Amino acid sequence: MSRIRGKLALVTGASSGIGAACAELLARDGADLILWARREDRLRALGDRLAREFDVEVRIASVDVRDRDAVFSEAAATLAGRVPDILVNNAGLGAGLAPIHEGELDDWDRMIDTNVKGLLFVTRAFLPAMVERDAGHIVNIGSIAGSQVYPSGGVYCASKFAVRAITEGTSIDLLGTSIRVSSVSPGLAETEFSLVRFEGDEARAEAVYDGLDPLTGRDIAEAVSFVVNAPPHVNVSELQLLATDQRSVHHIHRRTS
Ligand SMILES: NC(=O)c1ccc[n+]([C@@H]2O[C@H](COP(=O)([O-])OP(=O)(O)OC[C@H]3O[C@@H](n4cnc5c(N)ncnc54)[C@H](OP(=O)(O)O)[C@@H]3O)[C@@H](O)[C@H]2O)c1
Repeated sequence: MSRIRGKLALVTGASSGIGAACAELLARDGADLILWARREDRLRALGDRLAREFDVEVRIASVDVRDRDAVFSEAAATLAGRVPDILVNNAGLGAGLAPIHEGELDDWDRMIDTNVKGLLFVTRAFLPAMVERDAGHIVNIGSIAGSQVYPSGGVYCASKFAVRAITEGTSIDLLGTSIRVSSVSPGLAETEFSLVRFEGDEARAEAVYDGLDPLTGRDIAEAVSFVVNAPPHVNVSELQLLATDQRSVHHIHRRTS
């Protein structure tokens, strides 16, 4: 049974990986969609397919979540129509993998501006309308990197620790309202994440998943579907999802062929 049929769900970073899979499963559950990312062509192809396949309404917008003005003006255009019932803050990335003393400052900007500030801008743009209606559900995509740090990943991990703090802070601030705040925190998932992190180096990206059976975007989207379909009195505050081959950021089982 779906509890979100006819509701409106906004997914950021919907052009790829976890976000695209969330869009698909929320549409399967009968939700109308708003899809944001920078690559509009991908959003259009996905949106057209989901609208056809699941008979839901889909609105797409090319938005860079780092761009504060773009976020607030697109949010205002959306809110002039309908207030989203569900916000999945998924847009994010890892940029590079380097010890702090060798880190690229531009990589740090991209991670902190997207994963932390972008998530905050989108939340700040939509949450007041949810508060006014006393209805809504925010799902932040965190990471195992939000509770454990791995070598050369300090800044990415810091950005995901921040997502955990923002999720908890938002939830506490909304005590006494009906608005739910959740985080879904995956471990290794095979998406375009590593390709982006290593700037298109396919061999290096593939090596991340060598010899193990990683999560897929769909696995995580199933978790998001579970979270948003929970009965209204249930708030899944944090759900961590790891591949069976991964037990911590440091414990990964790889089969040798
Ligand atoms: N894959 C993993 O192992 C893993 C594990 C834990 C958590 N996560 C988290 O899961 C989330 C999704 O990542 P993924 O694995 O699905 O990677 P992905 O396949 O690279 O997807 C990332 C998505 O974020 C969007 N995005 C990136 N920068 C953006 C910006 N400035 N403005 C708007 N959209 C932006 C991208 O769209 P455009 O490029 O079109 O803008 C894309 O749709 C991220 O928050 C990531 O940190 C991933």
